[in-house]
Amino acid sequence: MKKAIVAPSVLAADFSCFTDAVHEAERAGAEWVHFDVMDGSFVPNLTFGPKVIADLRRCTSIVFDVHLMVMHPETFIERFVQAGADNITFHWEATVHTHQLLSTIRTFGKKAGISIVPSTPAGVLEAVLPDLDMVLVMTVDPGYGGQALIPACLDKVTQLVKMREARHLDFLIAVDGGVYDENIGTIRNAGTDVLITGSAFYKAQDKQYLVRTWEQAYPQLR
Ligand code: DX5
Ligand code: ZN
Repeated sequence: MKKAIVAPSVLAADFSCFTDAVHEAERAGAEWVHFDVMDGSFVPNLTFGPKVIADLRRCTSIVFDVHLMVMHPETFIERFVQAGADNITFHWEATVHTHQLLSTIRTFGKKAGISIVPSTPAGVLEAVLPDLDMVLVMTVDPGYGGQALIPACLDKVTQLVKMREARHLDFLIAVDGGVYDENIGTIRNAGTDVLITGSAFYKAQDKQYLVRTWEQAYPQLR
């Protein structure tokens, strides 16, 4: 089993200092930075759009992992590609055309992900698993950081690991929401590859230590 990818989510950072937030992730040794784009419609909160990503792109070469928590994500793909996103994840619940959208993202040479909210079962993704690079399992109801992880959502991670093995695929499985030191072992044991972290990372005194220990929280053999 490979080491985990740690992706600090700037949602938990000071929005007046985005550059610092990205540099903090970079200095801590994180491989990705996670951006939660919220539209006030798919989720009851608003964050930022492609200009923020484009401006930050000039300051760093770290992987930009963009999580579109918006209705009609097809409207925005090209703008986030041009802004410099590396990975683009949209919600299964927000569009009918998941297959087409995955293919559009990949045609632009970007990694394509689909996310599911806690009430959506993993099985809905069966048809498109060969067409995606990542499944992002939301482990809190999306919209806000600082919530507690819903343990039942981790069953979907285990299920996705089995679906991936059965079909000899190699997509990554990410967990987003309520990831903390206390549950990192359980999350990794379920089979999670990517650990998205807002509050835990930006509140951590020693961010480098957090990234190093989380990357190496190897799962027990199942
Ligand atoms: C939740 C967001 C998450 C959030 C995670 O709507 O998608 O990326 O930043 O934050 P924490 O780690 O605080 O739960
Ligand atoms: Zn997110």
